[in-house]
Amino acid sequence: MKPGNTRAVEEMFNSISSKYDFLNDIFSFGLHRLWKRKLLNTLNPIFGEKWIDLCCGTGDMSILLARYMKSSENITGIDSASQALSIARERSKENYSSIEWINGDALKTNFPFHQFDGLLMAYGLRNLSSSEAGLKEAFRILKPGGRAGILDFRSFQGFSIQGVFQKIYLSLYVVPIASAFGLGKEYSYIKKSLVNFPSGPEQIDLALSSGFRKAEYKTLAMGQMGILLLTS
Ligand SMILES: C[S@@+](CC[C@H](N)C(=O)[O-])C[C@H]1O[C@@H](n2cnc3c(N)ncnc32)[C@H](O)[C@@H]1O
Repeated sequence: MKPGNTRAVEEMFNSISSKYDFLNDIFSFGLHRLWKRKLLNTLNPIFGEKWIDLCCGTGDMSILLARYMKSSENITGIDSASQALSIARERSKENYSSIEWINGDALKTNFPFHQFDGLLMAYGLRNLSSSEAGLKEAFRILKPGGRAGILDFRSFQGFSIQGVFQKIYLSLYVVPIASAFGLGKEYSYIKKSLVNFPSGPEQIDLALSSGFRKAEYKTLAMGQMGILLLTS
């Protein structure tokens, strides 16, 4: 599957949704929750604010956000994969029932301008057909002064030890384990999606040209992950 094909990406995420959380824990050694928590600590969402989680998938980030704010009111999660959203609905129905789950496109959310105080996107930007279009839509729906945090794999350009490590990790750890669950092809997509994914400095440039006032990029997990922090 080629990155950029929105329909194929949606089908792929629907097909892996039942094993997504389980494999995520194996691949990140459970650390993805720590990185998401770090993102929340940095952004410090406040009770009463209105937040959106773009590309929310099975709802992990939205639920962590609800726990952080001690309320599931005013939280919206949006994703194009309906089966991932069914899992999000199911796991949130008891304790986080106010989260609104929307089956939609993060590039065209249909929200009016300036709706949200904050925006999150975990491992979504890389999967959009255009990172730039995703950042423009994020800017459009944020209130002036709103803040956004975008967590994803770091994209390396040129030679680096960390870049080599990433390739080895994806090819010799992630894909073989995913293959054992019949999902080798789907998870080999991660490497492909990183080929044209902007590096940290490029993400900063794209964010600033999309209208954001401030943009900062920080690395996590010994340089393997990155968070783009934005102010609109
Ligand atoms: C790697 S998963 C991340 C899920 C979740 N945020 C997490 O951290 O576990 C990427 C998600 O992006 C969604 N996605 C990709 N393109 C999208 C688009 N254009 N609009 C909405 N969701 C999209 C996929 O359906 C998938 O659920």
